[in-house]
Amino acid sequence: MTIPTVALNDGSVLPRLGFGTYRLTGGNGTRAIRSALRAGYRLLDTAVRYGNEPEVGEAIRASGVDPAEVVVTTKLPGRDHGYQATLASARESLRRLGRHRIDLYLIHWPLPRVGRYLDSWRAMIELREQGLVRSIGVSNFTEAMLTRLVDETGVTPAVNQVELHPYFPQRALRDFHAATGIRTESWSPLARRTELLTEPVLGRIARAHGVTPARVVLRWHVELGSIPLPKSVDPARQRENADVFGFALTPEEVEEVSALERGRIWGGDPETHEEF
Ligand SMILES: NC(=O)c1ccc[n+]([C@@H]2O[C@H](COP(=O)([O-])OP(=O)(O)OC[C@H]3O[C@@H](n4cnc5c(N)ncnc54)[C@H](OP(=O)(O)O)[C@@H]3O)[C@@H](O)[C@H]2O)c1
Repeated sequence: MTIPTVALNDGSVLPRLGFGTYRLTGGNGTRAIRSALRAGYRLLDTAVRYGNEPEVGEAIRASGVDPAEVVVTTKLPGRDHGYQATLASARESLRRLGRHRIDLYLIHWPLPRVGRYLDSWRAMIELREQGLVRSIGVSNFTEAMLTRLVDETGVTPAVNQVELHPYFPQRALRDFHAATGIRTESWSPLARRTELLTEPVLGRIARAHGVTPARVVLRWHVELGSIPLPKSVDPARQRENADVFGFALTPEEVEEVSALERGRIWGGDPETHEEF
């Protein structure tokens, strides 16, 4: 399966769908990530906080896929905010991944109370200039925080990875991203499964296209122009989730899915959520 790509504001490209690796640790984690690569995924989403950067590196090496074809995202943890700490943290991530460059490096959470995300952003610009990182972006940033980064440094993040699924479609933030050239990535794109996949409207649209509700949801992300990062340990579900480029939803169907809106699935509010 070949997943198409999309351009970023820094001239590089990302696959239009990636693979989430949260909780994929140890031997089972490595096997799940390797199987995702064999199924055709070329964008892997990890983080220092997931504790599986070594597994990601090992899965790439064991997969038989050309490592240069794989785009690895990792994320700066809260405990390493600050200019020097960010430079050191990136080097540690590179060592654990066993790679020479981080393809996409994100600030995991803004932690406004700590107040150092701007220093980290300046360090990420430096890391990009040094060639240790290809693309730089953020995660869980609000419009005001994004505006501050751009106003203070003149560098617009390539990506903002945020909670996004039919229960939380993030209309206003997506519009802001589109207007400023920031690519949206969707975390928990299936709303961690919850009861989303049993919503009657998804069943109806799925039957109309001869696909599963999960494929409808992931195609909805693609129609919105956001890059979903579904996670699955199961090879069959991994293949199912990547198979969303052979059908399309109508604008009415996209609206029907977006109408499931009701809010975040847990308390991940960027203004208050803290993890280190
Ligand atoms: N930046 C951030 O702050 C942040 C926060 C959260 C997540 N993330 C990223 O986003 C990724 C995805 O989010 P997530 O892992 O929270 O949730 P998700 O991808 O929305 O959902 C994963 C859950 O759905 C199940 N599932 C997957 N495909 C399915 C299918 N086709 N049919 C039925 N069930 C299916 C999985 O079970 P099985 O594994 O058994 O298939 C798993 O329980 C993470 O892995 C991580 O990389 C980032």
